[in-house]
Amino acid sequence: MNVVKVGFLGFGNVGSGAYKILKEKRQEIFHREKINIEVAKILVRDIHKKRSVPVQPYLLTDDIEDIVNNPDISIVAEFMGGVEPARKYILSALENKKTVVTANKELIAKHWPELEKAAQKNGVGLYYEASVAGGIPIIKVVNESLQANDIHEIMGIINGTTNYILTKMSEEGRDYAQVLKEAQKLGYAEPDPTADVEGIDAMYKLSILASIAFHAKVPVDFIYREGITSITAEDIEYGKELGYALKLLAIAKREGDAIQARVHPTFIPLNHPLSAVRESYNAIFIKGDAVGNMMLYGRGAGDMPTGSAIVSDIITACQQKGAYRYTTFYNENHPSAYICYLSNWTSEFFIRMTVRDKPGVLAKIAGVFGKYGVSIASVIQKGYGGDTAPLIFVTHPAGELSMKSAIEDIKKEEDVLRVENVIRVER
Ligand SMILES: NC(=O)c1ccc[n+]([C@@H]2O[C@H](COP(=O)([O-])OP(=O)(O)OC[C@H]3O[C@@H](n4cnc5c(N)ncnc54)[C@H](OP(=O)(O)O)[C@@H]3O)[C@@H](O)[C@H]2O)c1
Repeated sequence: MNVVKVGFLGFGNVGSGAYKILKEKRQEIFHREKINIEVAKILVRDIHKKRSVPVQPYLLTDDIEDIVNNPDISIVAEFMGGVEPARKYILSALENKKTVVTANKELIAKHWPELEKAAQKNGVGLYYEASVAGGIPIIKVVNESLQANDIHEIMGIINGTTNYILTKMSEEGRDYAQVLKEAQKLGYAEPDPTADVEGIDAMYKLSILASIAFHAKVPVDFIYREGITSITAEDIEYGKELGYALKLLAIAKREGDAIQARVHPTFIPLNHPLSAVRESYNAIFIKGDAVGNMMLYGRGAGDMPTGSAIVSDIITACQQKGAYRYTTFYNENHPSAYICYLSNWTSEFFIRMTVRDKPGVLAKIAGVFGKYGVSIASVIQKGYGGDTAPLIFVTHPAGELSMKSAIEDIKKEEDVLRVENVIRVER
């Protein structure tokens, strides 16, 4: 049986996880799948660095040519991260007729068409299961197991760091800054948490996932994005009182040729399956016309879960032997002409404000909402016996633009001291 030689680009969290799995399970994979996989070379920045997973020094290199120009290597697996030089190295591997497996969501979200064209031209595969939700096999499920469906809605918790932070804020009533610091200490958040807490990481993943689910390009530039940095323990507490859990959701909906895609903090009812997803776990809730509602749940990051997705892609690549699958849509960087990308979608809203505690304020604010056609579903008004009081509204479905205009007008009311937060609600 031929040995399939794989070149690794990177040996950090994901690389060492994939290496461990391939090493420990080589015999088992061989017996089960009749594929003999060997890691032949590993590109790193520093070949002298101490590694947490032991590796023979002769396997390490800091010269990309040892992999992309090695005729024995037929599969290149990339987990370096970032756009450059990963893009250049992957293109070079594809041009040299090597199938590529990658965990790099930013690269796929931004340069997918270029990479896929190079793969097609050279008759090799491009796999990216690990780029969305780590160990959850969502790409394979959408591409291969749900082909019978028109998928019209995806709602996902696809960033573990923010879910960990929001869980702690909710369960322990603590502030964002405090929990973030703790998450950084425990290794759940990066020293620079921007990509996670501002929703950038989730936006890349949503771009990839929505594109394959809707068979239409959903470019990163068309995804509305809002992070969790302005969320307070009070927002979460009042949400709970109203029967909601707060999550950073990646949401995409398709109706005919109209697509909306957005990442933002979202209240969901406590009986929604996504509300039970705690700590750093991920889950993706999908609505298909044939399958109905379904949800996949699991580890969205980590060396072994992400390594699991990488190894699965490597095995699939070996099994497909030239019959590679490419995207089903016109995969270009620019938006598709036949798709209407919506920015004025409809949702319910939670609005928390601080007002002067005096008669008539509630009626005035209700009047402004009425002027913009926003109808109120419920109100919490609390007087603490002081001059000011919190006032919380939940609306019926309203358009984004109507809500923005209503909030601008409400801010001008002299008895409204602050609009503290506006958070969308989904069901
Ligand atoms: N971490 C996760 O749980 C997870 C989950 C899903 C997807 N991903 C994606 O997987 C990728 C890797 O993440 P990670 O957490 O494994 O990163 P990481 O721990 O920082 O590892 C990066 C590896 O790439 C090597 N590297 C970086 N730049 C290089 C360069 N210019 N030349 C040669 N080698 C270079 C580093 O070499 P040295 O070791 O010598 O520094 C290191 O071994 C990212 O795209 C990430 O978004 C990660």
